[in-house]
This record gives sequence, C-alpha cells and structure tokens, in this order.
Amino acid sequence: MKRRGLFIFLLVVITLVSACSKSSTEAKGEEIQGIIPAEEWADKYPDEYASYLKNAEVANTTYGGSEAIDYLEKYPNLKTLYAGNGFSKEYLRARGHVYALEDVINTARPKPGASCLSCKTADYLEMINEYGDSVHAMNFDEMAAKVKNTISCYDCHQNTPGEPVITRNHLNVGLDKLDTEFKMGDLSCAQCHVEYYMDKETKEVILPWDNGITVEGIEKYYDDMDYYDWVHPDTGTKLLKAQHSEFETYQGSLHSKMGLTCIDCHMPPMENEDGDTYRSHQWTSPLKHVEQSCLPCHKNETADELIARVEKIQEGVENKTNEVSDIIVNLINELTKAVNSGKYPEETLNLARDYHRKAQWRWDFVFVENSTGFHNPEFTHKSLDEARMYAEKGLEVLREFQ
Ligand code: HEC
Ligand code: HEC
Ligand code: HEC
Ligand code: HEC
Repeated sequence: MKRRGLFIFLLVVITLVSACSKSSTEAKGEEIQGIIPAEEWADKYPDEYASYLKNAEVANTTYGGSEAIDYLEKYPNLKTLYAGNGFSKEYLRARGHVYALEDVINTARPKPGASCLSCKTADYLEMINEYGDSVHAMNFDEMAAKVKNTISCYDCHQNTPGEPVITRNHLNVGLDKLDTEFKMGDLSCAQCHVEYYMDKETKEVILPWDNGITVEGIEKYYDDMDYYDWVHPDTGTKLLKAQHSEFETYQGSLHSKMGLTCIDCHMPPMENEDGDTYRSHQWTSPLKHVEQSCLPCHKNETADELIARVEKIQEGVENKTNEVSDIIVNLINELTKAVNSGKYPEETLNLARDYHRKAQWRWDFVFVENSTGFHNPEFTHKSLDEARMYAEKGLEVLREFQ
C-alpha cells in the first residue's frame, strides 16, 4: 500500500510539473502513462477548450462546410469513377474533428485493419505501444471498441498543451525522405491531412514521399512498386485512390510562399471577453472568420469582397473538376466497351488503361482536396488540365484502333 501511495504521489507531481511547463519541448509528457482526455483541460485552458467544442457545430459555406453531405448523390460520376472501391459505397463530406471516431466506426466502407484508427484517435498511439506494429492489421472493430478519445489535445500536444508536437511516426518517417524544412503550423495538420497508403501486408500507414510530395513524384513512387489501390471492375485499370491531399496541395502556393501555414488561416488568434488572445481550436472553414484570419492582411477588401474572390476561384475549379470527371467517365465507358468487344489487342487496352490511371490520379488528387482549389489555384488547374489531357489521350488510343 505504501509503495502504491508513493507511486500515485509521484504521478501527481510529474503530471503537475509537465502540465505547467507549457513551453518545454523536452518534457512532452513521455513520463505519463495514458492520455489525458480533452475535458480535463477545460479549467486550465478554457478558451482553447471552448473553441475545441465548437468542432461539433454544423454549418456550410458555398463550397465547403461541415455537413456530412452525400457526395455520391451530389457527384453521380463518382459511382463510375470509384466502381469497385469502398468510396463508391459511401462517401460523405468530412465533418469536424470531434466526429472523427464515430464517423470511421460508422462508415459503410470496408476497413482493412485497425490502422484506419491512425488518424481518428490518439488511443491508437497507445495501442502501437502495447501491441507493436502488428496492431495495424488487427481487426478494426475489436480495436475500435477499446477507444475512448476522438481527436483531442493529445493528437497535437501529447499531455502538455501549448507548443504542438508530432505524435504520428508515419509523418516523421515521411519527412526523413525529404530535404525540405516545414513549419510546425503545417506539420501539425500534415499528420493526417495528407495522401497516404497502407502497406498491403502490414497495413501500416506510409507516406509515399520517396520522390517528393508532388503529384508526379508520388505517382512515380507508386508506379515503381507496381502499386494500385484497386482494379476497376469494368476497365481492368489498376487505379490509385488519392485522399485529402491538403498538405501537399498547399505547398508552393502564393500564401505558402509568404510564410503562412495552415494554422494562420484555420487557427487564427481570437480574443476572449477579458481581451486575452488565444488561438481558435475550431478547425473549420476560414470563410466563417475572415475578420481574424484574412482581413488583417487583406486590408483593402471587405469580408464580402474577399469571400467573393475566393468563391470565384472555387467556382472555376468546381466546374473544371466536373468537366474533367465527365471526360474520364467517357474514357471508362469506351474502355469498358473495348474490353468487352474482345477485339482490341491487350497492348492497346493497356495503353488506354495507363492513361486512365494517370488521368484519374490527377483528377482525384484535386477532387479529394477539401478547399475546392483555394489552397493552390495554379497547381489545381495544372493537375486538372493534365488529367484532361491524359483522359483524351486514352480516348484517342481507342479511337485510333477502330
Ligand atoms: C491562406 C489561408 C489558408 C491556409 C494557409 C490554409 N487554408 Fe485550408 N482553407 C482555406 C479556405 C479559404 C478554405 C475554403 C473554405 C470553404 O470553402 O468554405 C479552406 C478549406 C480547408 C478545408 C475544408 C474545410 C471545409 O469546411 O470544407 C480543410 C480540411 C483545410 N482547408 C485544411 C487545411 C490544411 C491542412 C492546411 C495546411 C496544409 C490549410 N488548410 C491551409 C484557407 C486556408
Ligand atoms: C490539430 C492539432 C491540435 C489539437 C488537436 C489541439 N491543439 Fe492546441 N495548438 C495547436 C497549434 C498548432 C497551436 C499553436 C502553436 C503556435 O502558436 O505556434 C496550439 C496552441 C495551443 C495553446 C497555446 C496558446 C494558444 O491558444 O495559442 C494551448 C494552451 C493549447 N493549444 C491547448 C489545447 C487544448 C487544451 C487542446 C484540446 C482541447 C488542444 N490544444 C488541441 C494544435 C492543436
Ligand atoms: C489526428 C488526425 C488529424 C489532425 C492532426 C488534424 N486533422 Fe483535421 N481532420 C481529421 C479528420 C479525420 C477529419 C474528418 C472528420 C470526420 O469527418 O469525421 C478532419 C477534418 C478537418 C476539417 C473539416 C472540418 C469541417 O467542419 O468541415 C478541417 C477544416 C480540418 N480537419 C483542419 C485541420 C487543421 C487546420 C489541422 C492542423 C492544425 C488538422 N485538421 C489536424 C484528422 C486530423
Ligand atoms: C499574411 C497576409 C495574408 C493573409 C493572412 C491572407 N492573405 Fe490572401 N493574399 C495575400 C497577398 C499579399 C495576396 C496577393 C495579392 C492579392 O491578390 O490580394 C493574397 C492573395 C489572395 C487571393 C487571390 C489568390 C489568387 O491566387 O488569385 C485570395 C482569394 C486570398 N488571398 C484570400 C485569402 C483568404 C480567404 C484568407 C484568409 C482565410 C487570406 N487570403 C489570408 C496576403 C494574405
């Protein structure tokens, strides 16, 4: 009993010491076993915590927002483009961080392993500690049943809120492959808002960054290892599935070149009733708070004028994304006919499949990016133009044979 009392006493001391050392980067709570849940920080950090709770709010903007709208209904082409992939079964728009856990548990998409929890809960970090790397391929439902926290303070701060730290090792491994230095304001989000894949055997999350973070670099990485996420059941194309490529898209943009990171727009400084400032911890559309996020720089514009400028960019991107998806669907239909006709040499079909893969990868990289092009309009248009070009080349290959 005595030893136990001493142990608890020490634990309390350690907890207090590390919770107080706000700016310390060393004492990031490694000593502490367990994850301190978000609600336990409510008294110490009331403003951050109150804004964190606002992630439960549901409100839309013209192109963005946090209502779980049904993409398969809104974009009927997806059923053809994603045929054979889980995303053709269910694809809802992303909601706020506090829903991450319940949304992954409830999705109708099949879950290849427990590693689907990687970006939904910090509890998964504890599971990696407990079971080692074998946890990734373990049964999703079994492991999900043990999870207590959705995305919370620990994901970005461990048990010492203040300075952000990287908790996801897959990001550290990915960064080791690059020569570039990034700011913490981008990396904090790049733990999850990136394109990734799971190793076919181990189901471990891997960032495909060996040749950089560009669309071509990532594609080359996948091509070199003959990787594909799934085979299109009608065309036989070995396709790649892109996922929430916000981090990669944002790099090299006008705002990024100016030194801004995700948190400048998505976590702006706010003032509480006493006039103290804190960073918003509501991760939502910045168009809901342009006064704090944008107008300090965009001084000559009103909120409405700036939002109109953003929406003009988004309208152009949305239209082009839809147009290009029509062309890829056209290629899928023609390629399906060609395959079924039995008349085309395998070589011709494979060439058309190659163009299909290239086109859909570039279109998807844009489609799954959640800013409708705002994060990097130039890059987005280039990707869509290339997607169009490849889809048309695929159609040409089939036409030429006829
Ligand atoms: C210059 C400001 C700015 C920066 C920097 C920025 N974003 Fe955004 N982000 C926006 C705007 C504007 C939108 C579009 C919101 C809308 O359509 O309502 C957006 C949309 C999003 C969305 C979808 C939100 C929704 O409600 O639909 C996500 C997710 C996102 N950004 C993540 C990131 C990440 C991750 C980074 C860093 C890699 C980043 N953003 C950097 C301004 C920014
Ligand atoms: C998605 C990542 C993320 C999560 C989750 C997160 N934070 Fe933060 N937090 C940050 C970032 C990024 C900063 C800004 C650091 C900077 O200013 O450079 C920050 C800053 C802070 C600060 C410093 C003061 C301030 O407001 O800037 C406190 C305190 C804080 N967070 C508390 C919390 C608490 C409490 C929670 C859980 C309720 C939490 N954070 C969840 C990313 C996160
Ligand atoms: C631990 C993983 C993780 C981290 C770290 C993370 N996110 Fe997210 N984020 C998610 C997931 C998962 C969703 C979708 C949740 C859902 O739909 O249930 C999401 C959704 C969002 C949304 C959409 C919310 C809405 O209401 O439309 C925004 C905006 C966003 N994140 C911004 C950020 C920013 C900015 C950062 C960095 C400060 C960040 N996220 C860090 C996993 C993460
Ligand atoms: C650090 C200052 C700064 C911040 C913060 C900032 N911007 Fe900008 N932004 C600029 C500058 C400078 C330009 C280039 C001149 C221009 O077009 O106004 C620019 C350009 C733009 C453009 C035109 C981009 C293009 O490619 O044509 C839009 C739209 C825009 N910003 C919207 C926003 C929004 C929305 C936010 C907040 C979510 C924001 N900006 C935050 C400085 C900033």
